[in-house]
Amino acid sequence: MKSLFMAGLLCFAAGAVYAQKSNNTEWWKEEVVYQIYPRSFKDSDGDGLGDLKGIISKLDYLKSLGITAVWINPYFASPNDDNGYDISDYRAIMKEFGTMEDFDALLKGMHERNIKLVMDLVVNHSSDEHEWFKQSRSSRTSPYRDYYHWWPAEKGKPPYRYSLFDVNHDAWKYDAITDSYYLHYFSVKQPDLNWENPRLRQEVYDIMKFWAEKGVDGFRLDAFQFASKDIAFPEWPKGWEKDFVKYYAMGPHLHDYLKEMHEQVVSKYRVMSVAEGAGNTMQDAHNLVDAERKELNMAYAFEGVDIAKPEGYDLAHFKKVFTKWDAEFAEKGWLSIFLANHDQARMVTRFGNDTPEFRDLSSKMLTTFIMTMRGTPYYYNGDELAMTNIRFETIDDYRDVAGRNEYEYQKKNGGDLKKLLEDMKLGSRDNGRTPFQWDDTKNAGFTTGEPWLKVNPNYKTLNAAAQEKDPNSALNYFRKVVALRKNNKVLVYGKYSLVDEQNPEIYAYTRELEGKKMLILLNFSQKNASTVTDKKLGKLLINNYPTVQKVSGNKIVLRPYEARVYEVK
Ligand code: GLC
Repeated sequence: MKSLFMAGLLCFAAGAVYAQKSNNTEWWKEEVVYQIYPRSFKDSDGDGLGDLKGIISKLDYLKSLGITAVWINPYFASPNDDNGYDISDYRAIMKEFGTMEDFDALLKGMHERNIKLVMDLVVNHSSDEHEWFKQSRSSRTSPYRDYYHWWPAEKGKPPYRYSLFDVNHDAWKYDAITDSYYLHYFSVKQPDLNWENPRLRQEVYDIMKFWAEKGVDGFRLDAFQFASKDIAFPEWPKGWEKDFVKYYAMGPHLHDYLKEMHEQVVSKYRVMSVAEGAGNTMQDAHNLVDAERKELNMAYAFEGVDIAKPEGYDLAHFKKVFTKWDAEFAEKGWLSIFLANHDQARMVTRFGNDTPEFRDLSSKMLTTFIMTMRGTPYYYNGDELAMTNIRFETIDDYRDVAGRNEYEYQKKNGGDLKKLLEDMKLGSRDNGRTPFQWDDTKNAGFTTGEPWLKVNPNYKTLNAAAQEKDPNSALNYFRKVVALRKNNKVLVYGKYSLVDEQNPEIYAYTRELEGKKMLILLNFSQKNASTVTDKKLGKLLINNYPTVQKVSGNKIVLRPYEARVYEVK
């Protein structure tokens, strides 16, 4: 089977309409979240890996972007089988990233600049090198045995479970020490934690308190939908593969755990919370985030980001999906808005057009989309420069455990390796993880050493330093559009209405709040496209082209990938 991860690991279908109620204002609804992949952001000591001191050296850059919060991917002690998503000590800093003093300095530096820090909480699984697992695997009577899921071999082979990153896609690994199998939905070095065990849950809440006491401002719950499982591990009916999330996610006690976590930790601090994924149905998404349920703050649904496929995507579908999610959350609950993250290839390659002619324009257009939709925007580092996919030719250039193990799997099972490598050029997560392109010096100014993952050769011209100097760069446009969002509550809370729905090239919508109205026009195509408006246009607030074209009459012609935001009188 093709890697379900690459095919869109966590894609979620939609369901029923949900109830009414006014959207209350909340600080976390007004944040603009910027995501930092620390391994690739900035290396301060020449070991080829980004680190906390590297981020510290770029705090003024972060401030200059105008973003208000940063979600940092895991920075905890880890053997790095999955780049930090395999944690061996939740209270220690990954040695390659620095020390706890570095972390404290980073948090202080962020807070001094009014930037919040959202941490990644990876607790569906730990590393197999975590002390809990070492104890757990040591004997069947260990007090830590039930921190993980074990299946004694005398019961025979456990019912099949798919593993996303395993080289055989088998989530059960036989462990001779106790003649038992352990469960790992991700790599063999990421054993799943047993959330049924109240002691384990307390450990996690204590870890959360430890970081909340330090002053972190939020938690992003990694792969959390998988945390609750039917631990009888029944056989699943044929065809489960087609409905991966239905079988793997949103287990029987997930909501109980989230409520407990909210009561014991989240409610006691000023922190925001978001989990990866939003369930199987719209009802699930609401059950995770509706305020009165006291579970999470906002949904992070994958249906939008999953629209882009290697063969392209259809704007009508894109509009439909984002319009549907907005409508479902118009009165209740809150969404995250994003088109990329560290598990995706680059935004401009997937959703825009990364040829030199259209790269910056299409990237700016997509940025305009993210910053003008209702929901909290999550923007991935490097996208503000319009960084593109690197498109590696050989498997040796890849570092991602998911991609490398998929290659091994297909090699063993007679897969079409040529096709896989072609697909990876578009879909591999490593495309989104190449080092940040700071300037045109060696290794793009990311490191003085050997970078852990190759730098995209286009850094010579595509880099932050060059873009700083150019008032029309993607970077400077990003700053403008972030400022526009922050200065206009209408873009945060305003009612969204789709206009010119059938237009095959243009995505147009209005946002409206307390008498203020804006019209957003986005040309998703590489040719001129037009729309007819009945709105009385006021000031042009933002435009991704350096020259403005006058509108005469009610027909508006947009140039390739043009984005405009108008005030409506
Ligand atoms: C999530 C993370 C991904 C990681 C996986 C296992 O999907 O976003 O990067 O590999 O969980 O922790």
